[in-house]
Amino acid sequence: MDVIHSVAELRARLYNERQVALVPTMGNLHDGHIELIQIAKPRAACLVASIFVNRLQFGPTEDFDRYPRTLAADCERLAQAGCNVVFAPDEQEVYPEPQEYTVDPCLIQDVLEGAFRPGHFRGVATVVLKLFNMVQPQIAIFGKKDYQQYLVLRDMVKQLALPIEIIPADTVRAADGLALSSRNTYLNDLERSEAPALYQQLHTMVQALRKGHRNFADLEKAASAALETRGWKVDYIAIRRQLDLMEPDSHARALVVLAAARLGRTRLIDNLEVELI
Ligand code: PAF
Repeated sequence: MDVIHSVAELRARLYNERQVALVPTMGNLHDGHIELIQIAKPRAACLVASIFVNRLQFGPTEDFDRYPRTLAADCERLAQAGCNVVFAPDEQEVYPEPQEYTVDPCLIQDVLEGAFRPGHFRGVATVVLKLFNMVQPQIAIFGKKDYQQYLVLRDMVKQLALPIEIIPADTVRAADGLALSSRNTYLNDLERSEAPALYQQLHTMVQALRKGHRNFADLEKAASAALETRGWKVDYIAIRRQLDLMEPDSHARALVVLAAARLGRTRLIDNLEVELI
């Protein structure tokens, strides 16, 4: 496995590759990332994972500085998983000058995560477009744990006519239901044992929807109250259309229940898709 830090070296390494898959990451890899690698592997002759903690997608009070940087351990895991190239540029390589040209994902960037993290999806879309231009993959894999991010990037590729197939990957969970996330490492033991409650609330909402409950606002309020009683600070719990994360009417069938909530200093997000019949 080659570990490459510059775009020039990357271009030279990939020059003769015809079917490249990219798994973009910010490092501190867990089994969820390795699952993305496994999904990519049979689809590509050359598998590239990028590792870059992207300042542009963090708000001024967010965890950019303390985000775990674990390049050596990440490379070990990627080599074991069969990755061919790790692209780990530094900030100067990705942003050699102030980034004045950006990608604005329009409506979807103002709801849910976007409402609580202004500018976040502009930062994500901009860096992913740059990574796409640097790596020039035919395929890119994104986890549905970051559901809104996946939709933003899927639509960016479609609307900007990028010749890249975006493949979504299901969320990988711990045995107790907690969605795997690099930020789970921030949780202390007590918080870690409480953390699956977020998934449990989403699961309860999905069951209620399947049983025919259609008062979305009531379901959202009940789940939010249940978490707040346990000491969580809820940013949002929302039932939305899978298509575009807009509010569903009572006839909508393909739904997703999304949540973001804080446990101590850690902000967790999760979601569950549900198809109603
Ligand atoms: O999901 C992530 O890890 C990041 O948002 C991404 C897609 C690598 C862009 O920095």
